[in-house]
Amino acid sequence: MFNKIKKIGNIFKYRKQLFSSLNTLYMEENLNKFLNKYGIDKLPEIEIFDLLELYTYKNDNAIKLKTDFSTGISPINDYYFLCLIAKAINAVKYFEIGTWVGLSAFNIAKNLDKETEIYSLDIPADHPEIALFNIPNEIFGYYSKDLKNVHLLKCDSKKFDLTPYKKQFDMVFIDGNHTYDYVKNDTKIALELLKDENSIIAWHDYLILGDVNKNVLSGILDGIPESEHKHVYNLYQSNLALYSKKFNFSKKYFDKWNIPEIKFLIETKLWSQKGS
Ligand SMILES: C[S@@+](CC[C@H](N)C(=O)[O-])C[C@H]1O[C@@H](n2cnc3c(N)ncnc32)[C@H](O)[C@@H]1O
Repeated sequence: MFNKIKKIGNIFKYRKQLFSSLNTLYMEENLNKFLNKYGIDKLPEIEIFDLLELYTYKNDNAIKLKTDFSTGISPINDYYFLCLIAKAINAVKYFEIGTWVGLSAFNIAKNLDKETEIYSLDIPADHPEIALFNIPNEIFGYYSKDLKNVHLLKCDSKKFDLTPYKKQFDMVFIDGNHTYDYVKNDTKIALELLKDENSIIAWHDYLILGDVNKNVLSGILDGIPESEHKHVYNLYQSNLALYSKKFNFSKKYFDKWNIPEIKFLIETKLWSQKGS
């Protein structure tokens, strides 16, 4: 009898983990359903030079990046490619969902012309997600809040009124909430923000540690009309998925363990020290 009560007690004790695991299984099953619908479990890949060749981009490919290697920011390769692409298409208006500490917006601002206008959207201070993780409000947009051409917007992307921003942006970077629902929502927003056929959408965390993030992939595929799926690719050597009506590349798939032919030089030095 005592053992029975103990077992029931344990079920209650571990119910949170149990529900969480069941939820993960349920989500996984649903995501597989979305992907099976399109018969896609991986995006075709393009290399950076495939993409740069589309533009009359004559500058060298040197980009200067700043980072603090803190939690939640993007890795340096993704900042590099975002800046390089934005520069190649000569972006004059850039929109980002997911400001965090403002480093992605900061690096775009510093590598593009001073005239480039950058809009970056993040959840407001009273959002339950901020309360849940106990994140101090002042870290949001920390690195870009004093830059004149970076405009920090505060709103949950599901409630965002995009009317004043429609059809203006050369590039939209989606890096907010990475669940299926939000990625789909943010993708639909991005499509409305794009200026023309040359404009680009970039999604972060399409790959996580080299594996496809099914939440992001299914959000993309359900957000972009099926007839346009042929324009969506993974940028090889990055965690980014990219879309533009201009993209019509032949389908390539690299092995996860391939040594890439394109290599990069990164020289690192201290940006600032404590007290400086
Ligand atoms: C991974 S961080 C962004 C990192 C940043 N783009 C970078 O590369 O340095 C994700 C950000 O998305 C924001 N976010 C989460 N849910 C959101 C939502 N529903 N609407 C807008 N922003 C959201 C989070 O508050 C967080 O600041």
